[in-house]
Amino acid sequence: MAISRRRFLEFLSASLVVAPGVARALAGLSVLGGGEALAQSYDVLRQAPANVGPVIADPSQALNVFDFEPAAKQALPPAHYGYLATGIDGDATLRANREGFDKYRIRVRRLIDARRIDTSVTIFGETWASPIALAPVSSQGAFHPDAEAAVARAAKARGHQMILSTVGSTSIEEVIKERGAPVWFMLYPTDDWMVTEALVRRAEKAGAPAIVLTVDRQGGRNTETRFRERRLDTRTCTDCHTPGFKNEVSRKPMFDNLDVSTVTNLYGTGMDWGYVKRLRGLVRGRLVVKAS
Ligand SMILES: Cc1cc2nc3c(=O)[nH]c(=O)nc-3n(C[C@H](O)[C@H](O)[C@H](O)COP(=O)(O)O)c2cc1C
Repeated sequence: MAISRRRFLEFLSASLVVAPGVARALAGLSVLGGGEALAQSYDVLRQAPANVGPVIADPSQALNVFDFEPAAKQALPPAHYGYLATGIDGDATLRANREGFDKYRIRVRRLIDARRIDTSVTIFGETWASPIALAPVSSQGAFHPDAEAAVARAAKARGHQMILSTVGSTSIEEVIKERGAPVWFMLYPTDDWMVTEALVRRAEKAGAPAIVLTVDRQGGRNTETRFRERRLDTRTCTDCHTPGFKNEVSRKPMFDNLDVSTVTNLYGTGMDWGYVKRLRGLVRGRLVVKAS
């Protein structure tokens, strides 16, 4: 049996269909054996975060961004944590993203004057302190009352560009005020052109130099981790989240004073390249197409 298992694992290690991390984990099982090896290998399979210490009690204790994840889980209601943490289906792409990110290496140069390091980049004629910008994250009021305003202050402190979501909990005018400089606006186009146009015009009037069209929500999504966490929540979701599109966006200030009576979805399910062309005709500044 041991020989067959070794052969099977050798086959898997060489197989193109098994991700390298999984193959390594399985190979580890054959070499080490026993409960400890099994536990370690499962950690590899699960892409366990690096942190193993106690949950941080204050942001200043965080050694890296992943230290915030257990703190968020502890602090947030399960349904809101699930919304933040979920991937799609069984989270395979979420793990793949993390694994892909691990493969980036910083190219180290030696014997240069390290006192004068310049990480700046120029994007669309604007100089950023570093290539790091804040991706759009919707509904931040679900995580902290200061929502996107606090994030804008953080972006300002470190000179990062920030992209505000259509369904942010804070208006673009307030976010720009807090950041002290224009931010980009991420557009969920809706299926009513009048609404789309109004969203774009408002963002541009506020000063957004770029409109970011998200194109990866067209087909819906199956957020299993979110559904699982929601089951753990003892509160009744509909106490706050009244069903129906109008109610869904009623707490999203970008929709203030807009007639959304004909909108059935945010995500532009019918969008194609013709739509992008039409939008290109509408947007005065830069138009960016985003798919994560
Ligand atoms: C809670 C949450 C809300 C998000 N909301 C939006 C959104 O409104 N619009 C959008 O284009 N992307 C949204 N995203 C996707 C992110 O902008 C980003 O593309 C994705 O999280 C992948 O980047 P990451 O690997 O750094 O998390 C959201 C992600 C999370 C976790």
